[in-house]
Amino acid sequence: MQVTDVILLGLCLLFLRWWWRRWSTTGGGPKNLPPGPPGWPIVGNLFQVILQRRHFIYVIRDLHKKYGPIFTMQMGQRTLIIVSSAELIHEALIQRGPLFASRPKDSPIRLIFSVGKCAINSAEYGPLWRTLRKNFVTEMITPLRIKQCSWIRKWAMEAHMRRIQQEAREQGFVQVMSNCRLTICSILICICFGAKIEEKRIKSIESILKDVMLITLPKLPDFLPVFTPLFRRQVKEAEELRRRQVELLAPLIRSRKAYVEGNNSDMASPVGAAYVDSLFGLEVPGRGRLGEEELVTLVSEIISAGTDTSATALEWALLHLVMDQEIQERLYREIVGCVGKDGVVTESHVEKMPYLSAVVKETFRRHPPSHFVLSHAATEETKLGGYTVPKEASVEFYTAWLTEDPSMWEDPNEFRPERFMSGDGVDVDVTGTKGVRMMPFGVGRRICPAWTMGILHINMLLAKMVHAFHWLPNPNSPPDPTETFAFTVVMNNPLKPLIVPRSI
Ligand code: HEM
Repeated sequence: MQVTDVILLGLCLLFLRWWWRRWSTTGGGPKNLPPGPPGWPIVGNLFQVILQRRHFIYVIRDLHKKYGPIFTMQMGQRTLIIVSSAELIHEALIQRGPLFASRPKDSPIRLIFSVGKCAINSAEYGPLWRTLRKNFVTEMITPLRIKQCSWIRKWAMEAHMRRIQQEAREQGFVQVMSNCRLTICSILICICFGAKIEEKRIKSIESILKDVMLITLPKLPDFLPVFTPLFRRQVKEAEELRRRQVELLAPLIRSRKAYVEGNNSDMASPVGAAYVDSLFGLEVPGRGRLGEEELVTLVSEIISAGTDTSATALEWALLHLVMDQEIQERLYREIVGCVGKDGVVTESHVEKMPYLSAVVKETFRRHPPSHFVLSHAATEETKLGGYTVPKEASVEFYTAWLTEDPSMWEDPNEFRPERFMSGDGVDVDVTGTKGVRMMPFGVGRRICPAWTMGILHINMLLAKMVHAFHWLPNPNSPPDPTETFAFTVVMNNPLKPLIVPRSI
């Protein structure tokens, strides 16, 4: 080897070293992004996350300890800015709410199901989102409308009680999660279509919407578009699934339309009381009247958004009632005090049950169904915590940390509903206006528009189940609070308790 070769090799190595350092640094630099874990050139932190073989939320949980309240992750071509402190979340989502109220770009597969972001949850902050959200809130979440739909809850919850009793008789225990999912899903389907739909069809809708959620989870090409050709088969599968989703839901839309136009009498809710009724005549900016494809997307988002979240909360609440019989007894006594031993729990009863409300709040505090809210984006480049937040970055609010933080909660790992009656939880406001201490529904412009309805479903089902049955641990499948991620953060081993009718 000649001297010039050695010099050339040395220069190459120096360049490589500089190049690696330059491209592996996450955050900082002239862009002034928040700091972050060093990554690899081009792919950033993407493969480091994939190689850990655990869900992203657990990776973030560890990184936040090291990098603090705001940090950057470079996932291929996507920049993620993770925000986890109460102060920064409050600043971004409440004080400067409109600025952080948008959503990032969708992947090609997600765009198939959202028909180009025509859904409340995925629309960018602007006239389309405003129209869709306002329509949903004013048509479906008013006290009058919620009352008008109470027959749906009664019908679905009576079926729920019969089903769990039969299941317990036949197999000795109750599958809490699957039963709660089915019941909540059937309520939301009826709210959307105003009709009683048979269980078989509800199960098909539930199953297809679960497949939609699975197929829209982030994939490699969402971060590195160069891999898109390798995922053509998945795009085809997504198109096929979309076809089946439309095939299943469009007939329900058509028969409701016929009813609204006076050509079909086989409906349980009066004209105007179903969500889809409000969409038939809606004019949305940039799109005009909504077509059948858009209607399928809009009803699907309501059914999906409300099902797993509520069922997850119910399963965690029951886990604690099974594990701590004293809490269950106190709740039972409150329910009997309100309803009587042989009475029927109604919606006006649950409003008068402070301990029930404390149990549900403690469940959301201890087990927020999602550890992040949906991805946000800034409407324009801005600053947060002294760092730059580019317009095209996804801003991820890691909200689970708020309720794990020992400086905000006494013994945060303990399940103690009493804290919401006379302790550190008394003044908590879940809408976060004055400050954020827990935010299971998000806060600010994008706060869950149906959080009161979600809480009503959970309160009612929990009160009914505890009023009718004593819930006990199953010795063959002991309650196990180990978590895993399945759209929401659920139990790794689903809860299968025993039930004994209270009337015995
Ligand atoms: C009790 C269970 C529920 C929980 C824990 C929950 C939680 C959430 C969260 C965390 C968000 C995202 C907020 C953000 O991005 O900042 C959200 C958004 C949303 N939720 Fe819920 N939710 C629940 C029930 C429901 C129900 C029952 C419905 C419909 C009937 C619903 C419809 C929606 C919609 C449409 C959005 C999108 C809002 C927007 O982007 O403007 N949710 N929810």
